[in-house]
Amino acid sequence: MSIENDFTLIRDYDYNYCLQVFNLLPVAFVKGRGCYLYDTEGRKYLDMIGGIAVNCLGYNHPKLTSAVTSQAKNLIHACNYYYIPQKSELAYRLCRASFADKVFFCNSGAEANEAAIKLARSYYYYKDIKKYEIITADMSFHGRTMGTVAATGQEKFSRPFEPNVPGFVHVPYNDIDAMIKAVNPYTAAIMLELIQGESGVHPADLEYIQAVKKLCVEKKILLIFDEVQTGVGRTGKMFCYQNYGVAPDIMTLAKGLGGGVPIGAMLTTNEVATGFRPGDHGSTFGGNPLACAAGNAVMEAFEEENIIDNVKDVSDDLFEKLNKMRTKYNCIRSVRGKGLLIGIEFDDTITAQGMREQLLSMGILVSAIGKSTIRLAPPLIITKAQTNQFIKALDKILKNVSGPKSVFGRIKEALPSKKQIKDSASGVNKAKIDKLDEAGLTDKKDIDIIDEDDD
Ligand SMILES: Cc1ncc(COP(=O)(O)O)c(C=O)c1O
Repeated sequence: MSIENDFTLIRDYDYNYCLQVFNLLPVAFVKGRGCYLYDTEGRKYLDMIGGIAVNCLGYNHPKLTSAVTSQAKNLIHACNYYYIPQKSELAYRLCRASFADKVFFCNSGAEANEAAIKLARSYYYYKDIKKYEIITADMSFHGRTMGTVAATGQEKFSRPFEPNVPGFVHVPYNDIDAMIKAVNPYTAAIMLELIQGESGVHPADLEYIQAVKKLCVEKKILLIFDEVQTGVGRTGKMFCYQNYGVAPDIMTLAKGLGGGVPIGAMLTTNEVATGFRPGDHGSTFGGNPLACAAGNAVMEAFEEENIIDNVKDVSDDLFEKLNKMRTKYNCIRSVRGKGLLIGIEFDDTITAQGMREQLLSMGILVSAIGKSTIRLAPPLIITKAQTNQFIKALDKILKNVSGPKSVFGRIKEALPSKKQIKDSASGVNKAKIDKLDEAGLTDKKDIDIIDEDDD
């Protein structure tokens, strides 16, 4: 018994049994091919968001799919007591492709940043130097763990969980004077995104990053680049710092590294790596054979398939067309980003959510950030013909916008409201639940609970 192709049931089960921490759109995807996703009704969507910068090779990429399936047949997990060939190989590939000498593997971006924060502190701890503070930028995003919400420069992500982890200072982004002012003898690290993705796709200025690096060298401060979103080819270089000609001491990766298989990584130099000694940090799943096989397949695809060249080529074309549209339509306030991480900001006549929903109804997926920006982060294998499909759809929508309510009012009516979803999901389809009962999957009541000591 599977609920895979019954959207109503999928939605009802989600509502009833999943913690409601996401504002979901009324679609469930069951298949992906190239840059297209297919929903339960067989409808096809052009994916301009790529699982939020994750599915860099698109869907069902032959190299990635075959690496994951053959690894799954051999060995999915082996514990970190033993050497893992796929992990050794991926670490080598990442070091060869970057400034780094050493890699620590984990499972997500937040975990990679936790590792970076811990390493920055322990590096100075072992040197017997009292440096522990970390400066990050206003409007940054570094993850959802207690450490990374404290690092994140947006109170909305940390307020409900106060008191916050101490030792973080936030300063305005792209403001070198504010950064210089915030540095003190206790500053261990400066942690920055080179493009602030989650707050609206805001790139750092070249002079700013160069000045921050100079400051770090002068004051013996570690420089951490959070490349969770910008890494692995997203900006037209393998890593975004290469656009700036400024190498960090620590870099974090996740998202695109596994092409959809969860993996995170923290990369650093031999010198800074002395800050972690055996037992200081770890992860049960980090560096497992399956995730690292996926990572190796992604890196191999980059080596063999001119993906970076494609990113540059498609990006140039897309920026040119978007900038042309900006001169045609006053409602486009700005077009920002680098490579295939792009933010399009609208004025008050258009809401980002309305635009996302209108595009969805036309079979195109983007994300909405804040009130007025949509974000594009498509698979890096996307073609110009495919991005043109997005351009045409956007043009069609903007042509129809004669006021804030016109097109967007109609979208609101077409999509179910939160209340409608709640009402229809308040009793999950009984007949189908009974089927699950028959399959013996729901008889929790009959299970004897045996008290056992926690181990
Ligand atoms: C720059 C940046 N850092 C960290 C994270 C957190 O990554 P994850 O959701 O994999 O924990 C994100 C996620 O969007 C991100 O964009």
